[in-house]
Amino acid sequence: MSSNVPIIILREGTEDIKKREARTQNINAMMAITETVRSTMGPKGMDKMLVDSVGDITITNDGAEILDKLDIENVAANMMVNLAKSVDKEVGDGTTSAVIFCAQLLQNALELIEQEIHPKPITNGFKLASNKTIQIIDEISKKISEDNEELLKGAAITSMNSKDIAAVKEYFAELALKAVRHVAEKNEGPIFDKVSNIKVIKAPGKSLKDSELISGIYIEKEKVNSNMPDVISNAKIAIIRKKLEIVKSEYDSNIMIKSPEKIQQFLDQEKNMLKGYLKYFTDLGVTMIVNNQDISDKFGAMLSKEGIAAIKSLSDDDIKSVINATGGTQIDDLKDLREEHLGFAEKVKFEKIGDDDYTIFSGCKNPKTVAILLKGGLEKILNTAEIALHDVVSVLAKIIDTKTIVAGGGATYIEVAKRLRTYANEISGKEQLAIQAFANALEEIPRTLIANAGLDVIENMTELRAAHKTPEDKWIGIDTIENKIGNNMEKGIIEPAELIKHIVKAGGELANLILRVDRIINAKAAERD
Ligand SMILES: Nc1ncnc2c1ncn2[C@@H]1O[C@H](COP(=O)(O)OP(=O)(O)OP(=O)(O)O)[C@@H](O)[C@H]1O
Ligand SMILES: [Mg+2]
Repeated sequence: MSSNVPIIILREGTEDIKKREARTQNINAMMAITETVRSTMGPKGMDKMLVDSVGDITITNDGAEILDKLDIENVAANMMVNLAKSVDKEVGDGTTSAVIFCAQLLQNALELIEQEIHPKPITNGFKLASNKTIQIIDEISKKISEDNEELLKGAAITSMNSKDIAAVKEYFAELALKAVRHVAEKNEGPIFDKVSNIKVIKAPGKSLKDSELISGIYIEKEKVNSNMPDVISNAKIAIIRKKLEIVKSEYDSNIMIKSPEKIQQFLDQEKNMLKGYLKYFTDLGVTMIVNNQDISDKFGAMLSKEGIAAIKSLSDDDIKSVINATGGTQIDDLKDLREEHLGFAEKVKFEKIGDDDYTIFSGCKNPKTVAILLKGGLEKILNTAEIALHDVVSVLAKIIDTKTIVAGGGATYIEVAKRLRTYANEISGKEQLAIQAFANALEEIPRTLIANAGLDVIENMTELRAAHKTPEDKWIGIDTIENKIGNNMEKGIIEPAELIKHIVKAGGELANLILRVDRIINAKAAERD
């Protein structure tokens, strides 16, 4: 948005609404969104039950998931949902916090606007405060080595404290850390970009504690023909992109099917073409075919007679994992297929896990991926665990990449707010008020944690603020599991510094964007213009 007067077009708007009203309307819509997730935050947060239009029910307390499922009309409110999504994408956790912070920032801005302060100095002040916050976090954050098991596990557990699998958080912290370390060892560059190499496979039955880490890659595909072997040892794998069926245009156009002999001729021709395909594979001793295109039933049957197994219609991501792990090269034209293009795995196995069929490649040359086999009695538990694991591996990867942490449970927000207020005193004019408003909005995070734990907000906030006297007190926060105020860094309530930086930066940017909007125009009217 580069013009001075960005325009937001709201579907429900009927006319050019007065400036202040437009702003208020947007902010109110955003506050409404915030209320849907506010009570889920922190260890004592509550679950939400979502019912979609066909009546399917999801029970979750993951901010990202709830927001993803909301059906929202207001554009500003939708931007709030996108804020959460961006935080999820950039750090993988902290979506609820970002939404709560941004909404509070806007609420505080609205109060300033009601005192006849123009939005311009407010947005300026917010920008100053946001930059200062990043600087403060860089100053206070703790540098750690990537081998620091204890702190990394602390961060993993902190991320799970607010999820329904808290009972197995120690076990999952180890599992997740092992998975992240495996991926870190086998890949180059930032690990955060590689967390998708950690596959989560849900296997109903037993309990979460029976979940395990398995090396090798899991592709959710069954073999093309049930007569193909269940296990292939020392598999020679052809990875191709080629429809293995006969398309009509490939037939001789001059076959006119008039007599039974002609039909036979037609069928023979098809068979010969398929035989031609087959020969490319048998000549090279291929025992496994991986194709991201279709394979006809007929060809599947021919393969199975030769003892060759195959899977078809793989996604690009799955093909990529097979290529990476087995060291093969994907080929489009079978004529080009050579020995050196084949991938290798000590074992390829077809197995049903829960309700799903998997092809498992193990003993690969270069397994860049790893799988977590999640076990659990109920589907809801498995889904919750899967979502929680996504947050955990993201958090761990972020810390290993950036090697900086801060304390959770509101500690960092209280410390930053305190330092921002000191900074505000150096700034003159209306901007000073905006920086103070920014500091107050940061404290909405500890305030919400306390409120959600059913504790007295004023009492605990006063105590927390008073406890932050010297720089040594910077990690004093609240533990809402034990309901105690203390040094959360020592307690192992830990978050990536990057997480809070991103929450503040993204939340601040969105608030400023919304504050600059002062007109709402009906979509139809705008079209006519
Ligand atoms: N033992 C604890 N005591 C107090 N606060 C805690 C504790 N453990 C974690 N927290 C805090 O809980 C907050 C995270 O809550 P939650 O995971 O529900 O929301 P989020 O991370 O902002 O969003 P989401 O996980 O839904 O993407 C963080 O501020 C974290 O410091
Ligand atoms: Mg979280």
